[in-house]
Amino acid sequence: MAVNENLRTPIVSVMGHVDHGKTSLLDRIRGSAVADGEAGAITQHIGATEVPIDNIVNKCGDPSLKDKFIVPGLLFIDTPGHHAFTSLRSRGGALADLAIVIVDVNEGFMPQTIESLHILKRFKTPFVVVANKIDRIHGWEANKNLPFLATYNKQSERVKSDLDNKLYELIGELYNIGFNSERYDRVNDFQRNIGVIPISAATGEGIADVLMILLGLAQRFLEGNLHYDATAPGTGTVLEVKEEKGLGTTLDIILYDGTIKKGDTIVVGSLGDPIQTKIRALLKPRPLSEIKAEEKFQQVSEVTAAVGVKISAPNLEGALAGSPVRVVSTDTIDAITEEIKSE
Ligand code: GTP
Ligand code: MG
Repeated sequence: MAVNENLRTPIVSVMGHVDHGKTSLLDRIRGSAVADGEAGAITQHIGATEVPIDNIVNKCGDPSLKDKFIVPGLLFIDTPGHHAFTSLRSRGGALADLAIVIVDVNEGFMPQTIESLHILKRFKTPFVVVANKIDRIHGWEANKNLPFLATYNKQSERVKSDLDNKLYELIGELYNIGFNSERYDRVNDFQRNIGVIPISAATGEGIADVLMILLGLAQRFLEGNLHYDATAPGTGTVLEVKEEKGLGTTLDIILYDGTIKKGDTIVVGSLGDPIQTKIRALLKPRPLSEIKAEEKFQQVSEVTAAVGVKISAPNLEGALAGSPVRVVSTDTIDAITEEIKSE
C-alpha cells in the first residue's frame, strides 16, 4: 500500500488557547523539516502549510513506514482567531478532517482550550491533545528534536513525576468534558481514547510523535472520507478577507474539494446577499527565500483540493471570513447563491 492518488491531503486544524504555542508548533514542523534537507519540499500555502508524506516518514526514521500510509501528506491550518474558526466549523464541519488541541502543560486548560474541545466534540472530529512547553518544567534537560519517550527516559525521576502529574491533570480535565484520554504511547485504541502527546515546540522534542500519530489517525478514521473529485467545481471556506497592496480586497481560502481556475465565477457569503464575482487571479506564496514585499505572490492558473490559495476578484469588500466559496456555472449560480444565502 503506498500513496493513493485519489486521496486528498487531510486538513489538520491547530487549535488552542492564546499563547499556548499553535504558531510555534507549525514553525517547528515547517522549519525543522526544511532545515533537515529532507526529500520533498514543504509547501507554503495561503494560511496553511503542507508537509509531504516523505518528510514525515523521514522524520520518524523508519523508511518502511512509507508503505503503510496512503495519504499524500498533511495540510496544517493555524486557526485564525477563535471567532472565525467557530463559524468555519459550523459550515457542516467541512473544513478540518483532524485537529490538534495544544495546551501549555504548565498552565493547563484555559477557556479557549475548553471551547476548542467542545467544537471538536460537536463535530466528532478526531484529534490529539498536544501538551506543549515541557522544556519549561523545572529541571527539564532538553534533547533537541528527540521523540518524546527517548527524551523522557533521560530525565530525572523528579522531573518525570512532575510531568506525569501535569499530564494526569490534563487527562482529568479531558474526562470532565467527556473524553477518555491517556498519554499517547499507552493508547491502544485511538477510537476510544484521545492521545496526549507531550512536546516542546521550542526544542522540537516530541514533534515526530505528533506527526506519526496524526498520520495514524488519518489512516484509521479518514480513508473513506478523503476521496475527492478533481473535476468537480471548487468548494472551499474563507479563512480571511485581506487588503493587499495593488490587489485590493482578496480572499484567503482553503479549497477542500474540486478545482478552482482563474476566470471562474464564484459565489461567496457576505453579511448581505452572497457576492457573485469572477476570479481575476489565483495567488500562491512564493518560496520563503524569494519573498520581496512587492512580489510576495505567484500567479497560478488553477489549483486542486486540498490547498490554501488567495483569490483576487472585484467586489469582495463585504465577504465574510468563515463563509463558503463555491465555483458556479450559469446553470448552478442561482441555486448555489440561494443555498449560501440560507446558511
Ligand atoms: P496566538 O496565535 O496568539 O493564539 O498564540 P499561539 O498559540 O500561536 O502561541 P505562539 O506559538 O505564538 O507562542 C506563544 C509564546 O510561547 C511565544 O513566545 C513562544 O516563543 C512561546 N513558546 C511556544 N512554544 C514553546 C515551548 O515549547 N517552550 C517554550 N519555552 N516557549 C514556547
Ligand atoms: Mg499564533
